Amino acid sequence: MSHQSDLIASDILAYLKSQEEKGLLRFITCGSVDDGKSTLIGRLLWDSKLIFEDQLASLEVDSKRVGTQGEDIDYALLLDGLQAEREQGITIDVAYRFFSTDKRKFIVADTPGHEQYTRNMVTGASTAGVAVILIDARKGVLTQTRRHSYLASLVGISNVVVAINKMDLVDYSSDRYEEIRAEYEAFAEQLEFESITCIPLSALKGDNVIAHSEQTPWYQGQTLMAYLENVNVTDNAMGQPFRMPVQWGVRPDLDFRGFAGTIASGSVRPGDEVVVPGSGQKSRVKRIVTMDGDLEEAVAGQAVNLTLEDEIDVSRGDILADPLARPAHADQFEARLVWMHEDALLPGRSYLLKSGATVVPAQVSALKHRVNVNTLEHQAAKTLELNEIGVCNLALGKSISFDPYRENRGTGNFVLIDRLTNATVGAGMIDFALRRATNIHWQALDVDKRSRAGLKNQKPGVLWFTGLSGAGKSTIANLVEKKLLSLGKHTYLLDGDNVRHGLNRDLGFTDADRVENIRRVAETARLFVDAGMIVLVSFISPFKSERRMAREMLEEGEFLEIHVNTSLDVCEQRDPKGLYKKARSGQLLNFTGVDSVYEAPENPELVVDAGKVSAEDIAEQIVREVLGDDAVWNVPDGTER
Ligand code: ADX
Repeated sequence: MSHQSDLIASDILAYLKSQEEKGLLRFITCGSVDDGKSTLIGRLLWDSKLIFEDQLASLEVDSKRVGTQGEDIDYALLLDGLQAEREQGITIDVAYRFFSTDKRKFIVADTPGHEQYTRNMVTGASTAGVAVILIDARKGVLTQTRRHSYLASLVGISNVVVAINKMDLVDYSSDRYEEIRAEYEAFAEQLEFESITCIPLSALKGDNVIAHSEQTPWYQGQTLMAYLENVNVTDNAMGQPFRMPVQWGVRPDLDFRGFAGTIASGSVRPGDEVVVPGSGQKSRVKRIVTMDGDLEEAVAGQAVNLTLEDEIDVSRGDILADPLARPAHADQFEARLVWMHEDALLPGRSYLLKSGATVVPAQVSALKHRVNVNTLEHQAAKTLELNEIGVCNLALGKSISFDPYRENRGTGNFVLIDRLTNATVGAGMIDFALRRATNIHWQALDVDKRSRAGLKNQKPGVLWFTGLSGAGKSTIANLVEKKLLSLGKHTYLLDGDNVRHGLNRDLGFTDADRVENIRRVAETARLFVDAGMIVLVSFISPFKSERRMAREMLEEGEFLEIHVNTSLDVCEQRDPKGLYKKARSGQLLNFTGVDSVYEAPENPELVVDAGKVSAEDIAEQIVREVLGDDAVWNVPDGTER
């Protein structure tokens, strides 16, 4: 079956040992099927003879049957077959192939080359040490060549092979080769690769893939296989300071307390000092425990259990680190973000950020620019669509430990998850912690919410009215405020139309602007609650995510969501501002209920229908529910709260 099959048969232990000791190179191939990518990978696999015999037999039969290459074997078929297998049940379409030669083991990630597959490429490339970028010698450097190169540099690949393929179709012309090489090198100057190696190839004919070709006597460099076998990919993770993200604490009995995780970088020995960056607490490693007994040293990639000399607070998500080279610990950072979902990024929306074992709420607080992956230009943007890449600031619900991705791929990456659907929507690479995150602290104040509210003899909170335009939100909120005032309550009404004249004057009605609109009003409402007030918020607030965000900014019981569930028909009939009419005639775009979505609340505290019940009665009901004898916010007279 393979070049080493004799060894497998005669001495299986020797075979396994030789496999174990060989170094591993992960690489990615970039290009489209037209560039001959499948053929190239097929040939690498074929010539290293690590294809199972039954696959070989079927390949020969298939090739003859399909017959695109006459009596020759069509290597592309091999890959296409494997890929079809892979395509079932996975969303990210990356095929990983394993093969080996006498010198090295290889894992090659093969990703589709079309523009819409940026996310696949980023996924496939994130662990690769080398990128093989295919160029069709007839076509030269194309837009997709630039895109693939940028993405390779984005995920931190430092060694690039430019495989100038189909040389047989340009008569093995050294002039053509040099022309493409010069063009590529000029472009790649801005990408900071450590090495760029160009190789003239014909994957189909086998020129310079495994053996030097007689057709290219002018080429003195290595063959592709020789390059892959010999390229020096410094193991980034090994050379870095010690980091172990803690997956969980292990405590089988009172005498043993260990922390389990996979070492992300560096190495550790018993006696080494480690720090928890969040708290600054330090201890020394006592034992490195594994299933196979204790170790004297553990290195990047190993899964271990560390016990420490002292009882310090370490929890899931903390990173145990070298105290002399600590990770950053902050709640704001700049990152490059690749958007991976059909629903566009909405700055200001609360997502979940997962980095290692840590999961925290996070929002994109500023989208600085989008990168045009074809030209590398920076473009102003308010959102990122599927497969777009941007540079942005993120603000997290709580500080986490991390490293800049450039310094440490293992502790510098994250994904963003949609909180309602749980889908992975983005992947990011951290650039650096924002200085303001580390330099602005909470100021402790002596007068607090409790004392401010106490003086007003009320429980502060938010009555959040949501519903379509024209549903009656503002009318009801206005009546409720009057009633509360007459009861001696201290209130403030934040109304969408009014706030949009001042604080939110700069915002329109795109999804992104509505998210920001609600974020600002929620922050404002929170300040009012902190001032001890009862706040009435009357905004369409069409998205579940932002209403949830507003709720989470407050304490339990402070947020009452009131869905003014007047039907679209009724709202449209009333049309108090004539806006539905404009929207229906196409004069007004993105109008809620017409061509912009309204996501009804699932569990609001109250649902009312101003199409069926009068605003006066609804207001009466709300005040009763909020402040009645057994109501949530009732403060019995003279009682200390
Ligand atoms: S929200 O969706 O961002 O919460 P908000 O409550 O602030 O909306 O503003 C809604 C008001 O703006 C509506 O009552 C209406 O008077 C006005 N308006 C103007 N254009 C639109 C639009 N495209 N969609 C909805 N409301 C609009």
